[in-house]
Amino acid sequence: MKTFVTCILCATAVQSFSLAPSTSRLPRVKSELYASLTNDESNSSSPFPPNQSTTRRSALQTFLTVATVSSTLPAFADEANSIHISAQWSAVDGLNSLDEGKKFVSFDTSAYRAMMDDPARTPFFEKAIIERLNSVPGGPESQTVLDLGTGPFALFAIIAAQAGAGKVYAIEANREAVISARANIKKLGFEDIIEVIEGFSNEITLPNNDKADFAVAEIIGSVATEEGAYATILDAQRLVKDPSNKANWIPSRVQTYAAPASYTLHNLFQPPAFDWTKLNGEPVRFNCRDEGLQLLSNPVLVEDVCFADIKANSKIEKNLKFVVDGERIEDNTSSLYEEFRRARLSKKEAESMAKTTASSVTGIALWPRLLLDGGETIQVNSRKFPDGGHQKSHWQTVLPIMNDLPVPVKAGDEINVDLNFDVSPDVLKPPSYRIDADIISK
Ligand SMILES: C[S@@+](CC[C@H](N)C(=O)[O-])C[C@H]1O[C@@H](n2cnc3c(N)ncnc32)[C@H](O)[C@@H]1O
Repeated sequence: MKTFVTCILCATAVQSFSLAPSTSRLPRVKSELYASLTNDESNSSSPFPPNQSTTRRSALQTFLTVATVSSTLPAFADEANSIHISAQWSAVDGLNSLDEGKKFVSFDTSAYRAMMDDPARTPFFEKAIIERLNSVPGGPESQTVLDLGTGPFALFAIIAAQAGAGKVYAIEANREAVISARANIKKLGFEDIIEVIEGFSNEITLPNNDKADFAVAEIIGSVATEEGAYATILDAQRLVKDPSNKANWIPSRVQTYAAPASYTLHNLFQPPAFDWTKLNGEPVRFNCRDEGLQLLSNPVLVEDVCFADIKANSKIEKNLKFVVDGERIEDNTSSLYEEFRRARLSKKEAESMAKTTASSVTGIALWPRLLLDGGETIQVNSRKFPDGGHQKSHWQTVLPIMNDLPVPVKAGDEINVDLNFDVSPDVLKPPSYRIDADIISK
C-alpha cells in the first residue's frame, strides 16, 4: 500500500497529463462522446465522480482532489504469474449516413485545419502528388485525378490543379465541406479543372463513366482503418483506370503500429474514486507528443492495407509477442522523473512515482503510418519510425484502457497479444476492434 501525495498534482503537471483526448483528428461524433465523458456531471458513463466534472478544467481539478486519497498500488499478477487484460470498441456508426447524430465522417473546422497544417503530413502528400503527375510521358495535363474526401479546403485537389493536372474530381460527403471547397476553388480560379461532386464515394459514378489515372484518399484514422478506408477503397477501385497499380493510389499503403504502453493518469487515478470501465472500451486518445504515454517495447506492425491489393476479406487476426524492454523502462523512468520534478515533486516522490508508472502496462497503444508513393519512399509517420518515439502529428495515439488498474511489469516480462479487428468491407458497417493480452511475469 502506498499513499500518493498531494503535491504531485500541481496545475503544471496536470496540463501535461490530461485525460481529455487530443481533438486534432477526432470525427465529430467522437468529440461529442468525449465531451460527454468529461463535461456532463449527470452522465453515468463518466469516469469521474458525480458533480466534479462539469468542464475539462474541473475534471482535471477532480484529479487533483481524488489523487490525494488514492491509496492502492496497481494489481499484481495472479499466482500463475499471468494476468489477462482486454478491450473492445467500434468506430462510430454512420460512415454512409448524413443523418443527425451519425456523422462519422464529419470533422470540425479546427480538425480540418490541424490536418492541413500538419507539417509531417501535408508537404509529403504535396510531394507525392507532384511527383506522380510528373512521372508520366504525357505530363501532368494528361492526368485525371480523383481526390476522395477533399474536405473544406479542397486541399489536394488544388495542389493537383496547381501542378498542372488536366482534370480533377473532388468527392466529398459532408455538405458544409462541399460548400467551402467550391468557394475555395472558385477563389483560386480552378473551376474549369476541379469538379466537386457531393456525396459518398460508394454512391457516385464519375461523369460520363470517366475514371481517374490516380486517386488521392486521405481518409486514414488514428487506427488506420477506423475512418472506413478499407470499405471505401475497396469500392473505389471502380473509379480508377488501373487500380491494381500501386502508383495509382496516394497513399499506396496504410499501416497501424502497436506497442504496450504505460499511462500516467491510469496510475494516479484509481478505483473506487475513478472508474475507468465507464469509458466502455472507448480508448483514450493522446497527442503523439504527450509524454504521459510511454511505450514499453519496440512497435510491431498490426494493420497493413495496400490500396492496390485490397481484398474483401477484412478480418485482421494476429498473435503478437512483446517483451518488456528494460532500457525503455529506464528511459521512461528518467523522462517521467524530469516531468514530476518540473511539477515540483520532491526527489523521493518523483523517483517513486516515475518508477511505478514506467513499470506498468495500461494497454496496447496504436498509431498510423502512411506510405504515399508506389515506391514507398515518401512516408508519413505519426510517431517516430521505427522506435515509436514521441513527435508532432495531428493524428493521435490510441490507447485502450485494458484493465481497471495498470498491471506492473519488469524487464523481460512477456505480453502475448491476440488481436481481432473486423475492418469491414461493407461501407455501412463500422470497423470494430478487439485486443486481448496475457501479461506473463518472468
Ligand atoms: C480526413 S478528411 C481529409 C480532408 C482533406 N482531404 C485533407 O487531407 O486535408 C477526410 C474527408 O473525407 C470525407 N470522406 C470520408 N469518406 C468519404 C467517402 N466515402 N465519400 C466522400 N467523402 C468522404 C470526410 O467527410 C472528410 O471531409
